[in-house]
Amino acid sequence: MKGWKGLTVILAIAAFLAVGYTFAISGSCPEKMVIKDPAFGTFKKKGVPFSHKKHADMYGCKECHHTAKDDAAVKAGPVKKCSECHKANAAEKNSIGYCKRTYKGKAPGLKCAFHMNCWGCHKKAKKEGKKAPTGCAKCHSAK
Ligand code: HEC
Ligand code: HEC
Ligand code: HEC
Ligand code: HEC
Repeated sequence: MKGWKGLTVILAIAAFLAVGYTFAISGSCPEKMVIKDPAFGTFKKKGVPFSHKKHADMYGCKECHHTAKDDAAVKAGPVKKCSECHKANAAEKNSIGYCKRTYKGKAPGLKCAFHMNCWGCHKKAKKEGKKAPTGCAKCHSAK
């Protein structure tokens, strides 16, 4: 009997680890990350710290992973990188005004994709009195 109990415990632990592993390689939502996408090639600015889980708790998944069918599809993974569809384009200016003016309903370049998503929402959120950073150095602050 003792042997069986031991085996049950081992199986339970194995099952637990297997589930953890599946989440890690599929749609697990990282707590925090620093955005510094190698697709840019060279960087003029520091990377951008991003409280991913806090944002996911506020807005769900599809808000940013916008080509997914729904939140469940994002959670099931795999998650596509923004740079799979938004290509780095050296001609893109930094200002969000430029991004909006030149947006024609097609995938903007990578810098505008990040700026319109992050900065665009932060501008609105700030007007509503929320503590969302809108200054260059406030976002580009990774060490
Ligand atoms: C709300 C946050 C936010 C604000 C505000 C913001 N950025 Fe960014 N920016 C990002 C993110 C996220 C990226 C993608 C970062 C990466 O992959 O390196 C990015 C990318 C860039 C890039 C391309 C990558 C590089 O380092 O060359 C440049 C240049 C840039 N931003 C300049 C600016 C400037 C200048 C301002 C202010 C006028 C600004 N950003 C304001 C979030 C922000
Ligand atoms: C406010 C925007 C935002 C929200 C909301 C959001 N994400 Fe993300 N997520 C990102 C960005 C930006 C990246 C980095 C993408 C890249 O590098 O191209 C990312 C990356 C990921 C990755 C890949 C992680 C890695 O280490 O490569 C997974 C998995 C993920 N998100 C899952 C989720 C899930 C699940 C939710 C909802 C519960 C969610 N995200 C909500 C913006 C967001
Ligand atoms: C599978 C391809 C694909 C992926 C992955 C993708 N996008 Fe997009 N994105 C598009 C296309 C295509 C458009 C043009 C309008 C549309 O079809 O929604 C677009 C439009 C946008 C726009 C401008 C329209 C708007 O709603 O403001 C932003 C900002 C944006 N994407 C940000 C992102 C960010 C940030 C990520 C990564 C978290 C991302 N996208 C991942 C294809 C993609
Ligand atoms: C749909 C709206 C929305 C989007 C998209 C969004 N944010 Fe935010 N963000 C917020 C709000 C609201 C806050 C303020 C939260 C609070 O009140 O504490 C915030 C806060 C932050 C902060 C301040 C510190 C913290 O974590 O609370 C950072 C840094 C940040 N966001 C980075 C980003 C980056 C980088 C992106 C793009 C990848 C992004 N955000 C996209 C709404 C958004």
